[in-house]
Amino acid sequence: MTQSGIQDAYGTTWKASCPSNIAFLKYWGKRDPALQWPANDSLSMTLTNAKTITSARRRAGGFDSFQFQDKLIDSVTSPQNKVFLHLNRLRNELNLEGHLHIHSENTFPSDCGIASSASGFAALTMAGIAALLETNDWNELALRGASKESIAHWARLGSGSAGRSCFGGFVQWTAGENPTSQKIAPLYPASHWDLCDVIVILDDDKKSMSSSEAHLAAWGSPLFKTRLAGIPERLRRMRAAIEIRDVEKLGVELEAECLEMHSVAMTGTPAVCYLKPETTEFTTWVREQRSLGWLPAWFTIDAGPNVHLICERQNQDLVVDAINKKWRERRTKIMIDRIGEGPMIQRGE
Ligand code: DP6
Repeated sequence: MTQSGIQDAYGTTWKASCPSNIAFLKYWGKRDPALQWPANDSLSMTLTNAKTITSARRRAGGFDSFQFQDKLIDSVTSPQNKVFLHLNRLRNELNLEGHLHIHSENTFPSDCGIASSASGFAALTMAGIAALLETNDWNELALRGASKESIAHWARLGSGSAGRSCFGGFVQWTAGENPTSQKIAPLYPASHWDLCDVIVILDDDKKSMSSSEAHLAAWGSPLFKTRLAGIPERLRRMRAAIEIRDVEKLGVELEAECLEMHSVAMTGTPAVCYLKPETTEFTTWVREQRSLGWLPAWFTIDAGPNVHLICERQNQDLVVDAINKKWRERRTKIMIDRIGEGPMIQRGE
């Protein structure tokens, strides 16, 4: 593709800035992959710093184009690319026409082992819809068929966890009784509880199995049905801890939850182990130090080897200093993040 994809772009630039989210109660397994109906309810905290910033602009050519870093692709040569399939979906849902040039970047390095599909699909959905409807006004978007709820629903169709990134604070995705009754909604705004996420990058290798594949493999695990049966009680306990801002109660649930998810992954068909020896070494260290009474932080781990340490804002420096002191010689990368207010769409030139 030549640069013509950019040269024939015209009109207003619509820029969506969407944060990533860290799942406290993990979405793991799909009841219906085609409809993106999850096996269980999930609950997450939307972040502040780890974001995708995506701009969308109309273009005259009869196809879409997408630029990420220095790579430019188009929908003629890469029609099966998820970005272009998603733009087709948005146009169909809104019954609109017109092609777009999309430019996307992350505020975090793409090779650091932190997945960007949640923030990426949330930002693509918002920028794409704003450009197709030519507005960033939430009321007008809603009047024209793109309420925040619908936007989250479309983002979820791109990547499940992206639906939760469409809101700030603590967000719940409820699976519902059937695919059409699922719901994504904020539980508490970011102002409810100033929690931090200290992300410790222990390994930046590419995942051995994508989370989309692992969602399917989960059904083959003998542990999966037991996990699903315990989800309502786990959700109740997490929500109660968040409601009264009890970090210890929440922390106990966080650790049990992510280890359960990884146990399902490790016993799935096919099985996958995302954890590396460094992960176990690190989480063991966290538990030891916490039991000595001075490290008030609890871990959660997504589909990868890196660790998210959750702590209250007043303890963030202590936690970061402790990691730096203990793990400095390994050149462990740390990203400091915290709860955030959610996405924003801006109108540019
Ligand atoms: C471990 O949202 O990446 O991060 O819907 O197939 O795109 P797809 O999966 P994805 O799965 C996220 C898995 C997780 C847990 C979570 O975010 O809830």
